[in-house]
Amino acid sequence: MKNILVTGGAGFIGSNLLLELQNRFPKANLIALDDFRSASFKNLAGYGGDFIAANVAETDWLKSFKNRPLDIIFHLASITDTTVLDEKKMMFDNVEGFRNILDLAVEKKSVLIYASSAAVYGSQNMPMKEEHGGRPNNIYGFSKWVMENLAKTYEGKIPRIIGLRYFNVFGPRESFKGAAASMIYQLAHQMMAGKRPRVFKYGEQKRDFVYVKDVVALTLQALEAKENTVVNSGSGGSTSFNEVIDILNEALGTNLEPEYFDNPFDFYQNFTQADMSYTAKALGFKPKYSTRDGIIDYVQNYLLKDQKSKAETASFRSI
Ligand SMILES: NC(=O)c1ccc[n+]([C@@H]2O[C@H](COP(=O)([O-])OP(=O)(O)OC[C@H]3O[C@@H](n4cnc5c(N)ncnc54)[C@H](O)[C@@H]3O)[C@@H](O)[C@H]2O)c1
Repeated sequence: MKNILVTGGAGFIGSNLLLELQNRFPKANLIALDDFRSASFKNLAGYGGDFIAANVAETDWLKSFKNRPLDIIFHLASITDTTVLDEKKMMFDNVEGFRNILDLAVEKKSVLIYASSAAVYGSQNMPMKEEHGGRPNNIYGFSKWVMENLAKTYEGKIPRIIGLRYFNVFGPRESFKGAAASMIYQLAHQMMAGKRPRVFKYGEQKRDFVYVKDVVALTLQALEAKENTVVNSGSGGSTSFNEVIDILNEALGTNLEPEYFDNPFDFYQNFTQADMSYTAKALGFKPKYSTRDGIIDYVQNYLLKDQKSKAETASFRSI
């Protein structure tokens, strides 16, 4: 019977992870922590565990663990909007929150798996290998890089500490991220409303879009790691925004042309692609979904079904 904490548990990846943990380990004692800044309880339909509503960067919530064992921590709570420019806030919430988690893991002797990001790579034009980190373009990426540096100073004090550099994750339960939800989510919603998909000029930016089902599987696989490390969590591919629109047109049965507009962000990552060879070696993990297969599963099994059930609710209300 394991005691497992998931911070950011009401968010996109955290809620998918919690529900999968509940599936795989029905006897585990699950605890979610979140302050709902980019999330909702609606992501946790069917969840049967405990919940702590708190800001992880503050310390009052730590008293909840006074006499409570804690075997595993998945730390996902973070400001996730990469366009937030308030440097102090980004660093305080993300890094001080992580420091609290690290200290808790030392006290409880917990295994710690935490979310880093492809943002630590900044602007590079080749498949990103773990040793290429440390060149963030923005304060969000810098906060993740400092978290990785901080984690190294705790090695040996915690049974295991693994950092996961998630690439561009998409999939069910991302809607509460609003403008920070994936490009795939934004484009699909525009297209489902019959609008032309809007992308930065000229749609040739390429990203490693990875399906959340693979990200959850990799996050759980990290529990099997034999040594402390940081690994990439991507699909291993790189897909342009124009190609995403083609796949969405196919999945939705539409034929909508992109509409291009100027990119206002000078710190934008125009290319990401995870080199997944070290992840395969360190965790024995290979993603199951290509970006294309992930988009098709997402559209057909989630987005179109949600749209249908919303339309049915609206017509029921109007009776
Ligand atoms: N989705 C991606 O493409 C992606 C890419 C790289 C890294 N990541 C990382 O993965 C993790 C999960 O991201 P996500 O995509 O699920 O985003 P998300 O915004 O849905 O999840 C973050 C969650 O943390 C909560 N939160 C934020 N700051 C908090 C704080 N100080 N105290 C308590 N709760 C707080 C939010 O309310 C939210 O539920 C984050 O650490 C993020 O940086 C995500």
